[in-house]
Amino acid sequence: MTQYGFRTEEIDTSRPHPARIYDYLLGGKDNYEVDQRAGDELAAAAPEARIGLRANRAFLQRAVRYVVGSGVRQILDVGTGLPTSPNVHETAEAVASDVRIAYVDNDPIVNAHANALISRSGPTSVVLADLRDPLAIVNHPDVRRVIDFDEPVALLLVAVVHFLTNADNPRQVVATLRDALPVGSFLVLSHATGDFADRRDAQAVYNKASATLNLRARAEVERFFDGFELVEPGLAQVPFWRPDGPPPARSGEIGFYGGVGRRNG
Ligand SMILES: C[S@@+](CC[C@H](N)C(=O)[O-])C[C@H]1O[C@@H](n2cnc3c(N)ncnc32)[C@H](O)[C@@H]1O
Repeated sequence: MTQYGFRTEEIDTSRPHPARIYDYLLGGKDNYEVDQRAGDELAAAAPEARIGLRANRAFLQRAVRYVVGSGVRQILDVGTGLPTSPNVHETAEAVASDVRIAYVDNDPIVNAHANALISRSGPTSVVLADLRDPLAIVNHPDVRRVIDFDEPVALLLVAVVHFLTNADNPRQVVATLRDALPVGSFLVLSHATGDFADRRDAQAVYNKASATLNLRARAEVERFFDGFELVEPGLAQVPFWRPDGPPPARSGEIGFYGGVGRRNG
């Protein structure tokens, strides 16, 4: 067993993992040599990759402040990633002290680290589940323990849907989650794209990882918000979604769309 309470054989260090590549590129320590190599290859193929991931993370924080500022007190964060400060609960708590959060990820390392960081009791739960089985997420007892689907929920799908292939039917997956949310709920979603630069080499880095990267064009990403109304400024490259400062250098090349939609009816 490791200090985090899971068996070491559960950690696959033979292949890079998306959560650990992301952690490496954000400057974290929860990664292995395979992840570092993949991260370096990614940064070589897409020189703006590190800036892009930081911009995605900053989008996540602005979007969380926005939805909590709009009155939502429940967050379902699917594909939460390795804990990176400020975490979603820290950002949410800075706006309101009574926000309940369910963190969901399919990576046992993420699950173990998140559990080590966050108390299991109280208004936060950490759930090991797969986005490809959305009903299992919605019906999971530890999700239901903190999320009341009769009250507005902010569903976060930030930098995760692009790990679903078309064969995984991502539109249906996201629709199933959206359908579980009542009026007044929000969808916060970001997604990798090749619309601003040719990123086939970057995409190829993930071919040997535990999940492939599936770049999608603007129209495809917008359809994930079907039935929800995008708040201003609509779907945008992440640095340009309600920026709270000047955009970082090379923002125009950043291959991440981000948006926030609200269920109005
Ligand atoms: C790039 S990280 C994003 C972390 C965080 N949402 C953010 O934007 O800062 C993607 C996360 O999605 C998780 N993930 C990938 N495929 C998944 C799936 N099918 N179900 C649940 N989580 C998944 C990975 O384990 C990883 O932790």
